[in-house]
Amino acid sequence: MSIHVNEKTGLFHLQTAHTSYIFRVLENGELGQVYYGAQLPVKDQYANLTSMEEHDCTNTLTDEQTDFQLELIKQEYASLGKGDYRAPAYQITGQNGSRITEFAYAGYELVDGKQRLADQPSSFDDDHHDSQTLTVKLVDQLLKLELHLNYTVFEGEDVIVRSATFLNHGEPLFINRAMSAELDLPDADYDFLQFAGSWARERHLHRNHLRPGSQSIESVRAHSSHQENPFFILARPHADNNQGEAFGFNFIYSGNFKDEVEVDQFDTARVLVGINPLEFGWRLGNGQSFQTPEAVLTYTDQGLNALSQQLGDFYDHHLLNPHFVNQERPILINNWEATFMDFTEDKLMPIVKRAKELGIEMFVLDDGWFGHRDDDHSSLGDWFTDEKKFNQGIGGFANRVHELGLKFGLWFEPEMISIDSKLYQAHPDWLIATPGRKQTPARHQFVLDMSRPEVVDYLVEKISAVISETKLDYIKWDMNRSITEMYGATLPADRQLEFAHRYILGVYRLYDRLTKAFPKVLFESCASGGGRFDLGMMYYAPQAWASDDTDAIERIKIQEGTSYGYRPNMWGAHVSAVPNDQVARLTSIDTRAKVAYFGDFGYELDITKLSAEEQETIKHQVAFYKQYRPLFQFGTFYRLETPDTNENVHGWEVVAKDKRQAIGARFQILNGANPAYIRYYFTGLDPQLTYRVNDDQETYSGAELMKAGYFVPRVMDRTQPEKAPADFYAHLFVVKAVD
Ligand code: GLA
Repeated sequence: MSIHVNEKTGLFHLQTAHTSYIFRVLENGELGQVYYGAQLPVKDQYANLTSMEEHDCTNTLTDEQTDFQLELIKQEYASLGKGDYRAPAYQITGQNGSRITEFAYAGYELVDGKQRLADQPSSFDDDHHDSQTLTVKLVDQLLKLELHLNYTVFEGEDVIVRSATFLNHGEPLFINRAMSAELDLPDADYDFLQFAGSWARERHLHRNHLRPGSQSIESVRAHSSHQENPFFILARPHADNNQGEAFGFNFIYSGNFKDEVEVDQFDTARVLVGINPLEFGWRLGNGQSFQTPEAVLTYTDQGLNALSQQLGDFYDHHLLNPHFVNQERPILINNWEATFMDFTEDKLMPIVKRAKELGIEMFVLDDGWFGHRDDDHSSLGDWFTDEKKFNQGIGGFANRVHELGLKFGLWFEPEMISIDSKLYQAHPDWLIATPGRKQTPARHQFVLDMSRPEVVDYLVEKISAVISETKLDYIKWDMNRSITEMYGATLPADRQLEFAHRYILGVYRLYDRLTKAFPKVLFESCASGGGRFDLGMMYYAPQAWASDDTDAIERIKIQEGTSYGYRPNMWGAHVSAVPNDQVARLTSIDTRAKVAYFGDFGYELDITKLSAEEQETIKHQVAFYKQYRPLFQFGTFYRLETPDTNENVHGWEVVAKDKRQAIGARFQILNGANPAYIRYYFTGLDPQLTYRVNDDQETYSGAELMKAGYFVPRVMDRTQPEKAPADFYAHLFVVKAVD
């Protein structure tokens, strides 16, 4: 059993394989955090961890009970206004305008397994085999409001999932904020690892020590954003990929979020994860309930690789669509960077045919196949064939692709509308706009009000027809702008703050209906690249386009940053043309592929324009990836600690579960003059096994490869600088156990 409840002492001890999460009922009836970290034995009480001392100049519970001072107490779901001045987990406005609540413990429920949430993505344990769910009930008698704090323990993955539910049995009230999880840590000696950036520069790692006051990452764009990812880590300053303590936090949500860490006057750290309180509010009538999205918490004392790996296992077992978890993802070719919107069926067919000859498995037709879309001014919402480009309809083209033995994928941007479209002529009111205010376009396009059921119905009908007509295998679901002038035309004034959340619930409804109706279609989510790379999307679409930046060197940072919180098979990675479209950099086709192998591999260039030699190279790359695809897509991924201070060298490795195979990569950005001997230190191998590396005659023990390292020859070929440039060089080491 993983959840231990001591009713007498009011103690709840949640245990995973290696961690303990303990909280208790406090003297004021609310819940207090006791401990989260490496596993502790179960005891009746932890007096040592819950003792209190009176401090001057601080509010007390009563005149008599002066050592109970909320300001110093670690809590599970704190409010503001009763003597704790840190950021609260929630805030409710009652009928009389007061924001004071007094919740008191009112019992608990414990069940095996984990039910999915009804109207939003969530963790699950359909077979009830390795999780337990605890719901702790609290009641505010005055408001007649129930609060459920929900905890699921995923024992094997060392993950705890939290959320909160408000159930109103009284007068209508207003939820000003409702975070999904709070964690009060007893000290603040942590580095905050965030994954920040911009369009084409997503999820770069930034690591800073916590400082006094509040530090946060957030989005108010109505999508999780390119700028900040909802995933973050708190790690001890000395923790690195291989060792040390760290907490990981992620959020199963795709809309506005806020992750906050507040270091208070006593140097404790309060962590909050949830829907961004800015641009949020929810009117809760009598008999209504509000369920927050779920926050994912994990802890390890084994370093950041272990943290990423246990999260990856959790996603595989309890978040991603089981149909796709063990399914090898196809090698695709996407026409976007090859043709942009300038194509016809005749222009595309040679690319399709050549792709087949080179061993590629799926052709994905990107933006521009529908309405009369020749540039980004028109046609979003008109999900029917542009007959000028495909005279046999998109179904006819799909047939030709399928007949050649390739799978077929299509691009959609379901949530968008162009003014120049049939959809806008028919339903101008479906476009999100604030009455009397000017609209703010982005990429000449506008957003559909996904909170309206009729909009979702329209999209289900149109997209389903295309899926059926084309016998579609794959959808790239794009979303190319943030939302402005947020306003729900069908919502009353006192519900307008619900709009952003209702919008994303509408997106989830559309995803839910399409994925249920077409369970075999693989969805890849995309938002101008990585603008909605989050667990909410991953629940429906098991892979996401990592970034519009396909430059190999830029991708090293993007994919490495992403790997802290997500598994490599959750992102698409393509070889594109040079000079690169985003940075105009020249890199060899070899380096481009070696970076893209670590992901769902594909191509995004006009292969018919390449030299015969390059096409031959692609054929080999495709064959190589097919041979090692299970290792790249399902192996255990490691970031290597490379002995380099200038971020000039990066090392990645994937290791098979049985440790009999591994592939290591060493990426060198610039070639240095007269360097010392270079050694590559493998990780994750079996020290006792004997391995061969690439085609070496010599064999090595796992211990030797990990502890003594593997000699890497210096790159110094002056004769062919164009073909094999020494800068931007990638080494790949294929390691196999020898019997
Ligand atoms: C976004 C996507 C690209 C491509 C274009 C098409 O930018 O990220 O991959 O699909 O839209 O307009």
